[in-house]
Parts: sequence; structure tokens; C-alpha cells
Amino acid sequence: MNADQLKKMAAEAALSEVKDGMIVGIGTGSTVNFFIDALQSVRHRIEGAVPSSAASRERLITAEIPVLELNVTGNLPLYVDGADEATQHRDLIKGGGGALTQEKVIAAASQRFICIIDQSKLVDILGAFPLPVEVIPMARSYVARQLVALGGTPAYRMDFVTDNGNVILDTHNLDISRPGELEQQINNIPGVVTNGLFSQRKADQLIIAGPDGLKIID
Ligand code: A5P
Repeated sequence: MNADQLKKMAAEAALSEVKDGMIVGIGTGSTVNFFIDALQSVRHRIEGAVPSSAASRERLITAEIPVLELNVTGNLPLYVDGADEATQHRDLIKGGGGALTQEKVIAAASQRFICIIDQSKLVDILGAFPLPVEVIPMARSYVARQLVALGGTPAYRMDFVTDNGNVILDTHNLDISRPGELEQQINNIPGVVTNGLFSQRKADQLIIAGPDGLKIID
């Protein structure tokens, strides 16, 4: 099975979490795109979906799934999203697609967060994938120096602007043995909007697809 087949398998497994009348929070990325495809088949049973990016919004519109705004819906019962890395403890690195801030807001506003991944994303310790940090543009250089002071090696993501008008520093070489502490520490740097560690609000469940089938971690 190739990576896309595994992503599709994980995405389709999450469909059983969708109940009649729900408003579903929707992440961003290639795995979530498979979930949107699956959600299309039950679109008449749900009230709608809240996207975490312009890309997911477009995809929902194409699938004829009603798009709703978080400011109107209030908190959500369910959020489904992928990840760039995940541990057995359900700590995540996200933001490879640059949608980390809206993803983190919707995850925080959701009662249940299901993370769908293929098994290549499961790691013992986070950090082989560079940690995305969303920064307001005028603070880019200052924040980069602070990330270096934390032991990181930030790289400015060239030719990329987030949906919120900000920039991304992809940060290599961080020691992420204590993800919750580091998440807070980086978020405390003035100019940081948020970082891609999802530990303080981690996933409630991982659905991991591998060649031998699905594995669930609650
Ligand atoms: C988007 O900003 C990310 O957080 C995605 O959730 C993450 O990059 C996973 O994407 P794929 O499903 O494409 O691997």
C-alpha cells in the first residue's frame, strides 16, 4: 500500500465518529482531503463543517458541504485533522501546510480531536520534522534569534504567507523531549502567533493506518 492509500484508510475510519446533525471541524492537508471526500457521502446528515484554512474551505465548497464560521457555531463536538508527526502520547507537530494557527484554535474549541495519520508519522520523540512557528512579519528576525537561543535552527519559509498574513519559521534541531513546556515557552516569545506543537491540547485519539491495518491510540 502506498502513502495515499494509507491516508485514505485512516481518513475513512474517522467517518464513524461523525454523527447526525453534527458540525465538524476540518483540518488541512492531504490526509484531511481524503476525509472531506468521505464526508461528502454523508453531507446530507450533517449541519456543516468549519474549515481551518482557505484550502480546506475550497475543498468543502467543491464537495457541497455547508461551510460555517467558528464565530457563529460556538464550540464543536468533533475536529478531524492530520499531523506531520505524532507520538504514542498523542503529542503532535503540525503546520507543515502552514495552517497551524487556525488548526490550533479549532482543536481548542472542539470537544473531541481525532488525528488521522499513516504510520510513517508515528515517532518516539518529536522533532525530526522541523517545528513550524507562525510569526508576525515585523518580528521575524527577533523571534528567529530567540529560537536560536532555545537551541533551534530556524529557517524562513520562502514565498509563503499564512492565511492570517504572517510568515513561518521552520525550526530544526529543537529538543522536544518536553513538548508541553516547549510549546508554552515558544508561544511566550513576543511576535509568535503560535507554534506547531499540539501538546497542551493534544489529540484525543490517533487513527494510524499501516500495511497491517488500523491502530487506534486513545
Ligand atoms: C497543515 O498545516 C498541517 O498541520 C497538516 O495537518 C499536516 O501537515 C499533515 O498534512 P498531510 O496530511 O498532508 O501529511
